Amino acid sequence: MQASVVVVGSLNMDLVTRTERLPRPGETIFGQSLDTVPGGKGANQAVAAARLGVQVAMVGCLGSDAYGTQLREGMLAEHIDCRALRTVPEGVSGVALIVVDANSQNTIVVVPGTNACLVPQDIQAFDEVLQAARVIICQLEVPMDTVGYTLRRGRELDKTVILNPAPASGPLPAQWYAAIDYVIPNESEAWALSGVAVNSLETAEDAARRLIELGARKVIVTLGAQGALLVSPQRVVHFAAPRVEAVDATAAGDTFVGAFSAALAAGKDEDDAVRFAQIAAALSVTREGAQPSIPRLNDVQGFVIP
Ligand code: RIB
Repeated sequence: MQASVVVVGSLNMDLVTRTERLPRPGETIFGQSLDTVPGGKGANQAVAAARLGVQVAMVGCLGSDAYGTQLREGMLAEHIDCRALRTVPEGVSGVALIVVDANSQNTIVVVPGTNACLVPQDIQAFDEVLQAARVIICQLEVPMDTVGYTLRRGRELDKTVILNPAPASGPLPAQWYAAIDYVIPNESEAWALSGVAVNSLETAEDAARRLIELGARKVIVTLGAQGALLVSPQRVVHFAAPRVEAVDATAAGDTFVGAFSAALAAGKDEDDAVRFAQIAAALSVTREGAQPSIPRLNDVQGFVIP
């Protein structure tokens, strides 16, 4: 079957500990637990789209180590097309070190491993996978030239192209914007991309407008409990977030992006796709871990907005 959503990005094994609070620089504190769970922004988004009812293919690189085997098996168990997942001989898979505190906030250190091996030639080699897609998603945990190539190719093929600029450390290459339909940053990423400090709905709109001046078509700033802000040259819409009891925010943004893409690929309009993605992301924060927290279609459809 042909994939509706293609994700070009990272796969990591997440090593997760829970603590009362996040450590300060130079400080040693005790963790309460240690869990090893599949993650990586690309893989999380692929799993979200797959669990929410569309055909998904993933393009990425894994190591030849045990984590690589487990990560591939996890993707196959979600019925994700893994033909374009390349195993790098002698390669060490990506790993993320995650600390989650009692307020469900986290810090994440990513060690890219073989995610850094994904080159534009990998994308060229699986061009037919891109050709079959409706929606193509990228993030920033794989090399920038690979992301740039994928965005351009997606635009040439007239696909819906989505960039989740995570993690972001500064402005994007200006020429990328013409290739992207939706840029979906969180507050800190919107700040890094635009130079506008984002700490309110108003400043989120200012940051999004700056990205539109730079050439973005549409921007969706995800604001956690403050909801999401969709900004285009024609309109600005604020979507309030469903209220839930947060346990762990890891992969909430990934769940939003994967769910939004799945909804667009399934034919929903963008406003309905945002609402659908918000419910999926809200459900994910009520559960621990990255991929274990991502809901399935019947969870989202059965969610009653409080
Ligand atoms: O967005 C959450 C993800 O960021 C984690 O799964 C971790 O692997 C890092 O990529």
